[in-house]
Amino acid sequence: MKNTVTLVLILLLSYNGNCAKILGVFTAPGPSHYLLGSTLMKALAEKGHDVTVISAFGEKEPPKTKGTYRDIVATEVLENRKEMMKQREMNMFDQADANPFISTFFFGYMMPKMMEPALRNAEVQKLLHSDEKFDVVIVEQFMNNAEKALATHFGAPLVVVSALGANFWLNTLVGNSAPPSYIPMVVTDYSAPMTFCERLLNSLLFVVTDVYFNLVVYPAENEIIKKNIPNGPDLFDVLYNASIVLVNSHPSLNQPVPYVPNMIEVGGFHVTPPKKLPQDLQEFLDNAKDGVIYFSMGSNLKSADFPPEKRDAILRTFSKLKEQVLWKWEEDVLPGQPKNVKLSKWLPQQSILAHPNVKLFITHGGLLSTTETVYHGVPILTIPIFGDQKLNAKGAVNNGFGLMLSYNEITEESFTERIQEILNNPKYRNNAKKRSETFHDRQVSPMETAIYWIEYVIRHKGAPHLRVAALDLPWYKYYLLDVIGFLVSVSSVIAFISYYSIRAVCRKICNKRKTKKLKQK
Ligand SMILES: *[C@@H]1O[C@H](CO)[C@@H](O)[C@H](O)[C@H]1NC(C)=O
Repeated sequence: MKNTVTLVLILLLSYNGNCAKILGVFTAPGPSHYLLGSTLMKALAEKGHDVTVISAFGEKEPPKTKGTYRDIVATEVLENRKEMMKQREMNMFDQADANPFISTFFFGYMMPKMMEPALRNAEVQKLLHSDEKFDVVIVEQFMNNAEKALATHFGAPLVVVSALGANFWLNTLVGNSAPPSYIPMVVTDYSAPMTFCERLLNSLLFVVTDVYFNLVVYPAENEIIKKNIPNGPDLFDVLYNASIVLVNSHPSLNQPVPYVPNMIEVGGFHVTPPKKLPQDLQEFLDNAKDGVIYFSMGSNLKSADFPPEKRDAILRTFSKLKEQVLWKWEEDVLPGQPKNVKLSKWLPQQSILAHPNVKLFITHGGLLSTTETVYHGVPILTIPIFGDQKLNAKGAVNNGFGLMLSYNEITEESFTERIQEILNNPKYRNNAKKRSETFHDRQVSPMETAIYWIEYVIRHKGAPHLRVAALDLPWYKYYLLDVIGFLVSVSSVIAFISYYSIRAVCRKICNKRKTKKLKQK
């Protein structure tokens, strides 16, 4: 009897319903990428799953969730990033000038190197050499394909999460078609409909990216697997083996594009209901009778790195406004700080955007910032610098809820003119509200969608039935080059034969006529 009770107790304790063991790998050295990943992993833990998260940041306090939450923090990634930036004397603002080809080469070269230290981290290595297994491995897609081998290593299906909308790197993973005729590459500032020149450059960029990644980047990432993962698989066996990809997009934000069945749109899943603001901020926002302009260049770019002449132009512009300005400024003092400007090194962005007095958000146009502004219906002025920011900025302009100011064009006049236009023309605010309504109009919340699909992959052992056949075709078959080649050859042969037959027939007829004529004479 006693034994039976013990057995039942053990069974009850170890029975965890549909609880799964989930590994999340979010090693991009950008706080916004981590925010996205950690929000998802916390929600999964809250649902009762046991999660392990490898990242460069980690949680300050262990989250209190129904399932367990284990952090493995590879701070090496941040140190490595700092070192790489220092070696190249890089200021991220310099990226504003880079053309799309240079950006593509740059990111393809830098990102795998930047994140490799995560795999070398001692705790990660310990996990790799343990006999732990997972039910699913979730990896953020950010040019770190080597990490996808972790799914194979732990014998689990692979889920990919993208901080960006559908783009070249995601589409190639799952065989999604994205014709360069109307879908701009992510590092450009094009938008549909594209001009002839834009389509030409967009198509060239498409081909160059494909060739560059296949010949240079993927082999380099394969080396990273071989170096760091015991019995690591070949990159090309894992690259195209994602069960699903969760895409951070939604037609209210991004250009509507086709998706294969295992691409799931979950744009906005990181947005949480507004929290209580710190008292000084609450008072500042409540008391701003003429409204508030919120200014932040995101978590990667530092406003403090603006060169002096740009900073002065910004300061002179702000000092003339009747509105209050809330500025994410990363240093202790701002020389020449106007009276209507409040500074803070860190600001609870989502809760600020939720405040009704916020009239305008001046932003770098990162996708998370753009998503949050659409969520709350606040118009934006973007100063895009790199990555997908120009594309997002262009999207906001096309959708009528924002204006764009290119970094090189920042002067007191241009900055003032754009701010006044957005503040005084109701069109921007109205469009932002409309976008917000379409953003919220969904059957289920994006976070519920994300969790549903992750659990779906676990339930269906990788859900291979969602995979499109395009993935199993070599490129020349995918682009039908063999069929086109065949048709061209057959047509050529037919044309060739027809030409010579007709010529032969004509000659015969002519010859007959000639002989007739000769005979008549
Ligand atoms: C590819 O995914 C399937 C389904 O999750 C899995 O069974 C298979 O082992 C994976 N292959 C590799 C090389 O990881």
